Parts: sequence; C-alpha cells; structure tokens
Amino acid sequence: MGRGTFEHNYQALNLSQLRTTEIDAVPVALALSPTNTSTATAIDLYCGDNLAIGRWLLSQNVRYRLIYLDPPFGSGKTYGARVNGGKGVQSEVVHAYADDADFDHYLQWLEARLVVARDLLADDGTLYVHLDWHAVHYVKVMLDRLFGRDRLLNEIIWCYHGPSPITSAFKRKHDTILVYTKSRSYYFNADAVRVPYDQATVRTFRSSPKAGFGKVPDLERGKVPEDWWYFPVVARLHGERVGYETQKPEALLRRIVLASSAPGDHVLDLCGGSGTTAVVSAKLGRHATLADANPVAIEKTLLRLQRLEQLPQVRLWRYATATNDE
Ligand SMILES: C[S@@+](CC[C@H](N)C(=O)[O-])C[C@H]1O[C@@H](n2cnc3c(N)ncnc32)[C@H](O)[C@@H]1O
Repeated sequence: MGRGTFEHNYQALNLSQLRTTEIDAVPVALALSPTNTSTATAIDLYCGDNLAIGRWLLSQNVRYRLIYLDPPFGSGKTYGARVNGGKGVQSEVVHAYADDADFDHYLQWLEARLVVARDLLADDGTLYVHLDWHAVHYVKVMLDRLFGRDRLLNEIIWCYHGPSPITSAFKRKHDTILVYTKSRSYYFNADAVRVPYDQATVRTFRSSPKAGFGKVPDLERGKVPEDWWYFPVVARLHGERVGYETQKPEALLRRIVLASSAPGDHVLDLCGGSGTTAVVSAKLGRHATLADANPVAIEKTLLRLQRLEQLPQVRLWRYATATNDE
C-alpha cells in the first residue's frame, strides 16, 4: 500500500454540500458498501463539532463500552494534512486543525467533551483519554472529579522514538493515556492482549525453580502488558501513513480495542482524525462511531475503510455545526 494512495481527496463525495445546522436523522448513503451486510461491522461517521454530536448521541440513548478520545493536546500549534498527491504528483498540505493557544479556554473546551464522553459510557465501559505533557496533569485532576479518583484504571505511557530538535532538555518522546472506568464492574479482557515473556525471564524460570519466590508464571500463556507500551510512531510505519499529521498507530488502538471491548461491541471516538479507531474496530469486528470537525479527516477515514479486505457498512451523517455555548 503506497503512501501516495491516501493523499487523494475522496472523489465520490461533495462533502461541502452536506453542511447543515442540524444533525440529520437520515445518514447519507455511501458507495462504499459491504458484500455481506449481515456480517459486516457498522461504521458511523459524523463530520462536525463533537460536543453537538456527543449530545445528540446521548439524546438517542446509545451507550458505548469503549470510548477513545485523542483530542488536541493543548499545544497551541496548528496541524496539517496532505492531499491531492499521487504517483509522480507532489501532494499539498492543507490545514487540518488548530490546537487552542489559550490554555484556560482549551481546558474548558475539553471538560465539556469529557462530561459528554462520561455520560455516553455504558455501565461497564472504559474511557481512554490520550494526551501529552502539555495538559495531562490538569486533565487528570478534571477526570478524577468527573469519575472519582478510584475510577482511574491505568495511566498508560506510550513511548516511541525519533528525531527531535530539542538539545536543551531530554527529548519528549512519550504520550500519556488516562484510563477511567464508569464503575467497578468494567469489561477488561486480559487474555486478548497477552504478550510473550521476554527471553531473559523465560531463561531464568526455566533454569531455577526458586526464581520468582516460588511463583511460576505460565510461560506459554504470556503476560498481561505493563502500563508502559512501545509502539513506533506512524511517521516510521510507511504502510500506515495517510498524510494526517497526528495519526496514531494501529497497534496502539488494537491493544486498547482488544482489552476493553468484545466483538460486536460499539466503540466511540469523538476526535476521529484519520480514522485509526474506525479501521481497527472494523478489522476486529467491533462497530464504531467517529466524529471529526474536519472534512479532510472524514475523507482520510473513508479512504482507509475503502481499502479494508472486509468492507464495513459505512454511514456518513451530515455536518453538524458547532454550538455557540462552548
Ligand atoms: C489528535 S487528532 C486525532 C488523530 C486520530 N486519533 C488519528 O489516529 O488520526 C484530533 C482530532 O480532533 C479533531 N477535532 C478538534 N476539535 C474538534 C471538534 N470541536 N469537534 C470534532 N473534532 C474535533 C481534529 O480535527 C483532529 O482530527
């Protein structure tokens, strides 16, 4: 799968014609349809402000077992997407989204979305909020207030590596994902995410019956991963790159989706970006709902879904414009 493949805009849709001030009750039919509709997973894409969309979903009484949120990080930067590239054609960079330069305003903006996300969780559901050093400590306190401190399931550190212009400090090469559960009785499938023990551990336990103070791990079954994860960033994964600057790796979402949802469950991502959550959910047999205010994000998502071996049933909902209050 070549890098340029995803850099075209989606030709079959005239997204600007879909703009409306209200969320439509009838989705727009898409050319992208599965061959077997009875077994296909359903992917719903909403282009518009995620607060309006989240509130609308609440009013429809839908609830999700897994919500992944990868919002702007409060960096104050602007981000781009590559479009209209192809074989022998240089792509151009268009504006994707701006991260709020006013940090207090950013926190208010995010809090309103976190409240809606909490309310959209099923009773046994889990929320993953993906941030970095810019805002994570502020948002941790916010989420403690919204969920209760004892509902923090994990603070996942996602580590990666790559070039950095920083020479006056250590390179900033990790993100933090805060994980909260709606209740004590939450879904977590440890067996779905086990990884092999490292070779040194296997050698130690095989060579000495006394290793581990008498506790012998099931070396064949593997272990539940620690709360720090290494996955390369998308910049290094040529096969996955779709020209969306803040695209996350599928491996990261795969672990989250496998651990916190079952096949047939409904997954929600209110900051869908290039559609990583939709792609991974479809591959793993979960239904997914994604929202993004940026039409280019929706186009990237559609392009990625279109290339899946098992085509999901995709519905595109009309644009919802931002509410005035937040
Ligand atoms: C960090 S990116 C998500 C990247 C995504 N996880 C991926 O793998 O491609 C954040 C996304 O939030 C979207 N966004 C920002 N403000 C929004 C809003 N008010 N409503 C909906 N989406 C919004 C941006 O357009 C951007 O695509």
